[in-house]
Amino acid sequence: MAPRESRPWVLGIETSCDETAAAVVAADRRILAQAVYSQLGEHAPYGGVVPEIAARAHAERLDRLIARVLTEAGVTPAELDAVAVTAGPGLVGGLLVGVVTATAVATVHRLPLVAVNHLEAHALTARLTHGIEFPYLLLLVSGGHTQLLWVEGVGCYHRLGATIDDAVGEAFDKVAKMLGLGYPGGPAVERMAEDGDPTAFALPRPLVGQEHCQFSFSGLKTAVRQAILRLGPRAADPGIQANLCASFQQAVADVLVDRTRRALQRVRGEGRALGSLVVAGGVAANRTLRAALEVLAGEEGVQLVLPPFDLCGDNAAMVAWCAIERLQAGLATAAVPRVRARWPLDPAAEPLPGAGAKA
Ligand code: KG4
Ligand code: ZN
Repeated sequence: MAPRESRPWVLGIETSCDETAAAVVAADRRILAQAVYSQLGEHAPYGGVVPEIAARAHAERLDRLIARVLTEAGVTPAELDAVAVTAGPGLVGGLLVGVVTATAVATVHRLPLVAVNHLEAHALTARLTHGIEFPYLLLLVSGGHTQLLWVEGVGCYHRLGATIDDAVGEAFDKVAKMLGLGYPGGPAVERMAEDGDPTAFALPRPLVGQEHCQFSFSGLKTAVRQAILRLGPRAADPGIQANLCASFQQAVADVLVDRTRRALQRVRGEGRALGSLVVAGGVAANRTLRAALEVLAGEEGVQLVLPPFDLCGDNAAMVAWCAIERLQAGLATAAVPRVRARWPLDPAAEPLPGAGAKA
């Protein structure tokens, strides 16, 4: 019999983008089992995620993944306390597959169903992995989002800044596409940059030094495009590509560090007790960024919390954990989840000027 403090045990399901994932997590922060099926191979020929292909791939895999994690965890559905599913933001087709499947499992086994906000799941991952206390400053960097959030508690998020155009992961993906490095772009650009000189190309650092905490990456992406056009056929040279990738990656790290420093100063200026600086999302796997944030944290005297590599990108352990936090805080709603393409964590935040801004 499991100790009481390990309850609730939650099955998490994640299908909001191109990762199909399931996990079983206990309230004592143990991941009893988790599995992620990445659809990379299916989307690679198109250079980006194709929503219809994603939805179909989720539908084909999800049942088996759920069965697998339950077996690995040694848990029967009847022993679970709840089922959690990402209900947004994300691609509606994929979200529907997850929500329909989760509803079926919950109904058959008479379990509560918890609808999870994907961004909140990323935001609370550091409490699963490191058990850190509220409040903290969160830098969320993924394929669809680039935000600085002040995290006060479960369900209590204040957006200090966000991108006014492209998300940072999107910029990595687009640069990789321009250079023919394949999808997803982040890991490909990072690999290419290993042998490159980060000072070889003088690229812009958009919004660096500004009073506010917003981000912008489209100008940087355009500068890379212009550099490629100027290079002509030489842009295919691996040495030059390495230099361009290293220069781009350095520019991104410089922008993220500057904007995060600004947010830290703002939080301090408002007299708030600064706990930790937490990073989350797929781009948090980037080693140059991790190293640059280590330096920033040292200079600013804050504790830096970086997720382990397997929990940077999309996964279902974070979804199950988010539901555990909501259940424990009495904030899990019983209603049948409605899927939401957009679902901002801080609905009170000012709308952003860029039409492409992801909230
Ligand atoms: O969080 P995530 O898995 O999915 C979203 O919710 O968007 O993030 C995926 C993004 C992609 O844009 C991918 O290129 C980027 O994270 N990424 C990276 C790295 N690994 C993944 N970007 C830079 N460096 C990496 N090592
Ligand atoms: Zn994500």
